Amino acid sequence: MGKQKNASLSFPDGSTGGNFPVLSGTVGPQAVDIRSMLAETGKVTYDPGFLSTASCRSSITYIDGDKGVLLYRGYPIEQLAAQCDYLEVCYLLLFGELPNKEQKLEFDTKVIRHTMVHDQINNFFRGFRRDAHPMAVLVGTVGALSAFYHDSLDLDNPSHRDISAYRLIAKTPTLAAMAYKYTIGQPFVYPSNSLSYTANFMRMLFGVPAEEYQVNEVLVRALDRIFILHADHEQNASTSTVRLAGSSGANPFACIAAGIACLWGPAHGGANEACLDMLEEIGDVSRVGEYIEKAKDKDSGFRLMGFGHRVYKNYEPRAILMRETCHEVLGELGLENDRLFKLAMELERIALEDDYFVERKLYPNVDFYSGIVQRAMGIPNNMFTCIFALARTVGWIAQWQEMISDPEQKIGRPRQLYTGQAKRDVVPISQRG
Ligand code: CMC
Repeated sequence: MGKQKNASLSFPDGSTGGNFPVLSGTVGPQAVDIRSMLAETGKVTYDPGFLSTASCRSSITYIDGDKGVLLYRGYPIEQLAAQCDYLEVCYLLLFGELPNKEQKLEFDTKVIRHTMVHDQINNFFRGFRRDAHPMAVLVGTVGALSAFYHDSLDLDNPSHRDISAYRLIAKTPTLAAMAYKYTIGQPFVYPSNSLSYTANFMRMLFGVPAEEYQVNEVLVRALDRIFILHADHEQNASTSTVRLAGSSGANPFACIAAGIACLWGPAHGGANEACLDMLEEIGDVSRVGEYIEKAKDKDSGFRLMGFGHRVYKNYEPRAILMRETCHEVLGELGLENDRLFKLAMELERIALEDDYFVERKLYPNVDFYSGIVQRAMGIPNNMFTCIFALARTVGWIAQWQEMISDPEQKIGRPRQLYTGQAKRDVVPISQRG
């Protein structure tokens, strides 16, 4: 933390007020600590969508949206994606440092030993319609985990919080794979402890009891990279949801279920599914121009899915890495001439040259490519957001842990600018017009 200075406010009537500390982090913009503002000035700040509000101190992830920088615990995402596997990144996010060999072995073993779910959970699935969206099933079943671990939900007990973290990281892939198997009418595939975290997930997703599942290391590495790129992203909508839910003392399974629900929206994690649906709808390179025009027309209500980002006003590093992965996977599967991939490349080319997108700094985001990669791997569109959710679980948990251990943590309770009726009296129904 840098040396603290104070700021004050001046108001239109010429008065001044407040004595607000200006806080400095390691890097990034300074923050004006306005916690005493209401008490000191009688005024609140107005910031819908939290465009200029830091909701917490955090030492987990740093983003510089103008420069296109993403760091987990100080390490550039490019280096982590090239040199680490997903569980190493999980360890880093949770504990702040990369593991050494022994720590990694111990961590991997602990996670892998928690991948099975209680047998009663199978019964929940049978209550869902077969055509249920897997995200609906995931929200429900992750939340339902709260019902199984009464013995370890004391938030003040660090060992309870740790075991919940392991359980969530380990069991979310199992539940996501079960959600998929249920919708296609195939039997659930139990986890296999002899496989890596990501290979195990692919086997639970694609394996069938009648055949030995063949692991393809190129595809496992690609999916593992997708997990790494989605593992955390500082105070985005779903992470803020997890923190807000957790601020009331709700249990971690309930908080992560809340995060999954928020992630589902097409402006957030649902964008990769929406992007693929959009590419299918465009259908042919000849119609790209028409859709670009539609995206520019505010009355159409249509946005180019997979374009733009609240924080990145440059090509985001995750998108660059995902683009590379896209080429690797399509090459491995002999799909370089894939119709939708070609369409996506053309859409990207035209949008990047168009003044509307250039002026607003709208670049392809990670979801623009991740859907194409996952589709090429045989993952259906409606599973994309579940995969985002399972990868983000570690980020949510790390942020939840950080919040619980923060001495400044309070229940989240924003204020409002009230624009409704001032106080008035109820008129008897017989006298209302
Ligand atoms: N297509 C067309 N116009 C767009 C788009 C788009 N995808 N995104 C933003 N704009 C325009 C918007 O209409 C506005 O124009 P104007 O200034 O003329 O009113 C301007 O760009 C700024 O947009 P905004 O809505 O103020 O930007 P925001 O920071 O609030 O929204 C966003 C960010 C991601 C919600 C938005 O860009 C969007 O809806 N993108 C499509 C959905 C998407 O791909 N989401 C995935 C985000 S990355 C994964 C994740 O982290 O969840």
